[in-house]
Amino acid sequence: MENGNLKLAIQKKGRLSEKSIELLRLCGLDLDFYSERLIVSARNFKLDLLFLRDDDIPEYVQDGVADIGIVGEDVVYEKQANINVCEKLGFGRCRLMIAAPANCLPQKIEDINGKTIATSYPNILKTYLQANKLQAKIIQISGSVEIAPSLGVADLICDIVSTGTTLMMNKLSKSFNVFDSEAILIANNDLNLNTEKYNILLDLIGRIRSVMSAKKSKYLMMNIPKDSLEKVTKVIPSLKSPTVLHLADENSLAVHAVIPADKVWSIMNDLKAFGASGILLLPIENMII
Ligand code: PRP
Ligand code: ZN
Repeated sequence: MENGNLKLAIQKKGRLSEKSIELLRLCGLDLDFYSERLIVSARNFKLDLLFLRDDDIPEYVQDGVADIGIVGEDVVYEKQANINVCEKLGFGRCRLMIAAPANCLPQKIEDINGKTIATSYPNILKTYLQANKLQAKIIQISGSVEIAPSLGVADLICDIVSTGTTLMMNKLSKSFNVFDSEAILIANNDLNLNTEKYNILLDLIGRIRSVMSAKKSKYLMMNIPKDSLEKVTKVIPSLKSPTVLHLADENSLAVHAVIPADKVWSIMNDLKAFGASGILLLPIENMII
């Protein structure tokens, strides 16, 4: 379907699917979903969404079947595809780890020597073993790696750990960390040759950046006694000078400020001590800096 739309591949089903769609919605894209559709077009943006297995995304982007993709760094490094990394997306954080049943968990790294390891990430694992001068047998499995030890296929596994639920359900424990990953936006190397599509990508990246910086901030609103203004402004870690508004009550002021989300709770006690009341903290959807 060549309609001039930018084609974005995302994971059809898995850890990154929902978060990828949430990000696109926060970017203002109006998307309709029909459960078994492979392609969905945004109603208000020149973009088509392709739902694919995450393992296939780097290659599809490399070959130009999709122009861009949202996928884990783990998969991109494993597939060694020739693509451009545009942006880290700050979600889908996970670790590729060695794991094993508790009774044969490697205590020190040399314990991996001579073991059989099942994984869907043979390239990353091979690099890790070489870097640590270890000798182990790699068994490549495309899915459900976590059941390999109980089937007697392997001693250890090397797989993605996010919440840890999969390991727990399969009575496996974490051991060494092989690779840290998060979701990234990737693009076909020749996309810049297509000016129209490249401009759509730049528009999308601008929106993604504004969503990401908005997530890191909160909008703080409160009323304070007029004579606390100096003390209050001193503790507010505002990006810019806070907005101060007069109220009908002449002894009070309203103060509004955009503050870093991680600083919110550390200033709350001070604000209350300075007499702040009606404190409201609002999420910010987009922030255009
Ligand atoms: C990975 C991995 C586990 C799961 C671990 O799958 O293979 O199944 O995530 O997550 P947890 O620690 O939260 O339980 P992924 O989403 O990458 O899908 P895929 O294996 O089908 O590619
Ligand atoms: Zn996968």
